[in-house]
Amino acid sequence: MMRKKIVAGNWKMNLDYAAGISLFSEIVNMVKDEKKGNQIAIICAPYIHLNSLAKLGADVVKIGAQNCHQNDSGAYTGEISAGMIKSVGVEYVIIGHSERREYFAESDELLAQKTIKVLENGLTPIFCIGETLEQRNNGSYFEVLKAQLDKGIFGLSAEDFSKIVIAYEPVWAIGTGLTASSDQAQEVHAFIRKEIAAKYNAQVAELTTILYGGSCNPKNAAELFAQKDIDGGLIGGASLKSRDFVDIVKVFN
Ligand code: G3P
Repeated sequence: MMRKKIVAGNWKMNLDYAAGISLFSEIVNMVKDEKKGNQIAIICAPYIHLNSLAKLGADVVKIGAQNCHQNDSGAYTGEISAGMIKSVGVEYVIIGHSERREYFAESDELLAQKTIKVLENGLTPIFCIGETLEQRNNGSYFEVLKAQLDKGIFGLSAEDFSKIVIAYEPVWAIGTGLTASSDQAQEVHAFIRKEIAAKYNAQVAELTTILYGGSCNPKNAAELFAQKDIDGGLIGGASLKSRDFVDIVKVFN
């Protein structure tokens, strides 16, 4: 059994309704003839367009949400639940993006609760981990990443863990144009896979999809995705341009 390859676009807080529909329609039209069977999952993670795009995706492009609340419902103004996300046909939820951790003070413990809620609703979490530039430079990044895994998702059963997608996003590479080298990314992806094997078993580790995110673009995607333990990308800026995003998708063709 092969690991699932994924190219996911995180639109973040960008694109009004019309621009999002237009971008998504371009992407669907550009990939519908490219997609070879189920070899690769193509995901777009908008914000306001969740319902509309799930209908437009025609199964060629899946939809992801960028976050969800840890509760099922209630007086949480401005929040959205995993059940609400599921109800509009969305299949993936990004959890623990570094911008959520930083700007919204989302702790590992909170992210663990959100992940469980996503799984309870039959959705696929894309769980993000990554170190800061200081942690990279002082050599503590393996320790930091291990702690994020331990506190975030290593409390799950092997069965539930096997439903997780992990995204390694070095914070210092996000939005900076300073992409991790393929060696740096492969080193961390191999470390993550080793930790999964130690926590669960070799089969779970082998089948876990681990994406790279952080200034991934059409110029560097092929070298990154050629690495043994990199199974695709979580794309920010380059996902907002249909040509760039589809060129990244085509790396897997
Ligand atoms: O979630 C993906 C994102 O954080 C990466 O952003 O713009 O560096 O591709 P970017």
